[in-house]
Parts: sequence; structure tokens; C-alpha cells
Amino acid sequence: MKLAVIKESRPGENRVAIVPEVASKLAKAGVDVVVESGAATAARFTDEDFRQAGATVVPDAASALSGASIVARVQPPTPDEVADLPQGVSLISFLQPVSSADTVKALAAKGATVYSLDLLPRISRAQSMDALSSQATVAGYRAGLSAAEHLAKFFPMFMTAAGTVPPAKVLVMGAGVAGLQAIATARRLGAVVRAYDVRAAAKEEVQSLGAKFVELDLETQDGAGGYAKEQSAEYLAKQQELLAAEVAAADVVITTAQIPGRKAPVLVTAAMVEGMSEGSVIIDMAADSGGNCELSVPGEDVPVGGVTVVGLSNPPASMPTHASFLYSRNIANFLGLLVKDGELAPDFDDEIVAGTCVVRAGTVVHGPTAEALGLTIPSAGPPVAAQPDPPAAGSAPGVNTESKEAGS
Ligand code: NAI
Repeated sequence: MKLAVIKESRPGENRVAIVPEVASKLAKAGVDVVVESGAATAARFTDEDFRQAGATVVPDAASALSGASIVARVQPPTPDEVADLPQGVSLISFLQPVSSADTVKALAAKGATVYSLDLLPRISRAQSMDALSSQATVAGYRAGLSAAEHLAKFFPMFMTAAGTVPPAKVLVMGAGVAGLQAIATARRLGAVVRAYDVRAAAKEEVQSLGAKFVELDLETQDGAGGYAKEQSAEYLAKQQELLAAEVAAADVVITTAQIPGRKAPVLVTAAMVEGMSEGSVIIDMAADSGGNCELSVPGEDVPVGGVTVVGLSNPPASMPTHASFLYSRNIANFLGLLVKDGELAPDFDDEIVAGTCVVRAGTVVHGPTAEALGLTIPSAGPPVAAQPDPPAAGSAPGVNTESKEAGS
């Protein structure tokens, strides 16, 4: 079984899907790992590291992909990149399939089997494969560091001969995986941290990190599987009103609030930014998914009066060595469900495999993605194959045969 690892093409993406240590484990398990030269340079791994790990390094992506039965990536391929994939290949990546319609169509036309790690069911058995959580851990740590870098003040309290400096006041909004890591990082640096989340369960987790949980006179909003549900406009308006004083009192506001599959909720309005003190900093970790602050721009530091609004873009890519290391481990653990005796043999009765699969041998099997593509998945019977539009001359659109699956 040949597994291809190629250089990520998205600008600013410094991670790599497989690191040498994991390549070594896969090679020992009989997987033929083939890596494009320089694929991991930005993540600080060399071609020589891969060779020593037992992988084969080839000069370009085309050579790595040729004859591959599985491709591991961080970001989804563009429709053009899909054209370079072998027919019937299996792909593991972050895909966000509902908003990647063109890519999903192109993959379906390739007869591919596609697993999107952002759909992984969050059950205990899947924790070692949970790439969203591993990358959120990196993002939260980066958000805490970024806050300390942008603030023109110390985070810790200093008692010096020249006088005492009070600790920075940090407010973290959204206390999921990333928010908790941002809290832990700010606390390690000595800040006094307060945190808020709509989920009731977050309170205990926040307190266990030595931060104070901010309670608002609002109903908690627990959704399915421990996630927040989307809040109404009235709820968010009330929340903004109640949080204004908290925001105004903070030196730093770190926002990490997300709703799976939806635009991030606005927690900090322009008026709330105006109410902050000179020199304050907002770190918006949700900038890429619409922003928790009305004024954030992904990848930019926006000065608003005396306040700096930092729109973090793809924060895990700014810490690519360990982000890649964790992601690569997640992929290897997920591969454990797909590979039996050195061959691809996914068990689609396994809820982790089935829940993560978007396209199976050219057929779109993920309900929300099928809906976004205008397809229907009957409740009984086989799912509907995607029809690429327009079909390319000489291609076989809507490939829907089990025999093409898994590169077999
Ligand atoms: P996320 O990235 O989807 O959202 C981040 C946080 O934003 C969440 O805590 C959410 O409640 C919060 N949020 C949403 N709207 C908000 C608003 N208007 N105001 C304030 N906060 C808001 O979530 P993440 O971090 O991926 O996971 C959330 C939870 O899911 C975890 O804390 C945990 O309970 C559960 N989880 C379970 C796992 C497992 O069992 N394997 C693995 C990972 C997470």
C-alpha cells in the first residue's frame, strides 16, 4: 500500500500531514510511504529525516502521487490538484466538505474515497484521532502567546525595587479545547484570567485551570455531543450587553467561540472595542470562520483607536513542528481503522469510519454535503453519486463502483 505525502499548497500552510517519526512507524507496518522532496521543510523536517525513517523521497508531487492508494494532507486539495490524484484513491484531510463543493465534486468524479477529519465523531474511542482537538490545542497556545506579544505590558505581577506592576487581566471567551489552552497559557505567564462560555460544563474546566468563570444572567446553551448550539440574534445581543463591562475591564480579550459548521458568533462589537482602554488587545482566534469580533480581519492586526484587534489566521500553521507531529499521530491512529494486514480494508460499519467518510468510491455519503451539492441521500438504499458539472471529455462522471474503492 503506497501512502503519498505532498507539500501543502495553501499559502501560509506550514504543516505536513506525516512527520518522519510516524513515517517510520508506518514503514515498519509495511506501508510504502512516499514523500515529495521538501514537503516538510516549513515544518522543520528534512528529506534526510524521512529517508532515515524508511520513507522514499521523490522529486515532485506527481512522482509521489503516481500509483498511490492513499494520500494524507492537511488542507483539502483544490479542484486542479484533484485532477492529479490517481483514480479511486483514498484521501485523508481536513475538508470542511459543506463549503468545499467544487473539490468534493471533483473527488467524486475521481471515484475517490474521502475522509474528512473535521467530521470525526467525538467519542472516547476516537480521541487519539481527534485532529480538531489536537490543532485547537496548538491554536489556543498560540493565541495566549500572541496576546502576550501584542500587549505593551507584563502578563505576570512584578514586585521590584522600582515599584509593583499588577498582573495583566485576560478575558477568554469560548472555553472549549482552544479556549482552555489559551487560559492555561495565560495563567502560566502569570495573568489573572476570567473566562466565559455558553456551555454549563465549561465552568468546572475553567475553574480547574485557576481562572474565574464569568456567569451571565442568561440560559446556558448546550447542544448535542457537548457542543454549543447556534444562538439566536436576541441571545447574542443580550450576551454582548452583559459582557461589555467584562470586555472594558480586560487588558486582553481572547475569543475562541465557534459553532460547528456555522459562522462564528459575534461576541465583541465595534462599540465594545471602543469601550476598551488604550493599549488593550483582542486576539480573535475565530477570524477565519467569520470572527468573534466585528472588526477582525484574518491574518491582520487592525488598530482601532488605541486597541489592537488581531485576527489570527490558521494559528496551528504558525507552530508547524508540533502541530504536524500531533496531526500526523492522529492520521496514523485513524489509518489503524482503515488498514488491515497492510491493505486498505475500511470497515464502514464502524461509526468512526462511516462518520468521517464524505465520499465513498465516488458517491457522496455525507448528508449535509450531499444537500449542499443538491443531491439527496435516501434513508434506505444506496446513496446518490455526485454528477460533476460539466463532465470533462473522456472522464467517467459519478463513478459509483465498489471495485474502485480504496485504491484496490
Ligand atoms: P468549538 O471549537 O466548536 O467551540 C469553542 C467554544 O466556543 C465551545 O466551548 C463553545 O461552547 C463556545 N461558544 C460557542 N458559542 C459561544 C458564545 N456565543 N459565547 C461563548 N462561547 C461560545 O468547540 P471545541 O473546543 O472543539 O469542543 C467543545 C467541547 O466539545 C469540549 O469542551 C468538549 O466538551 C467536547 N469535546 C469532546 C471530545 C471527545 O469527547 N472526544 C473531544 C473534543 C471536544
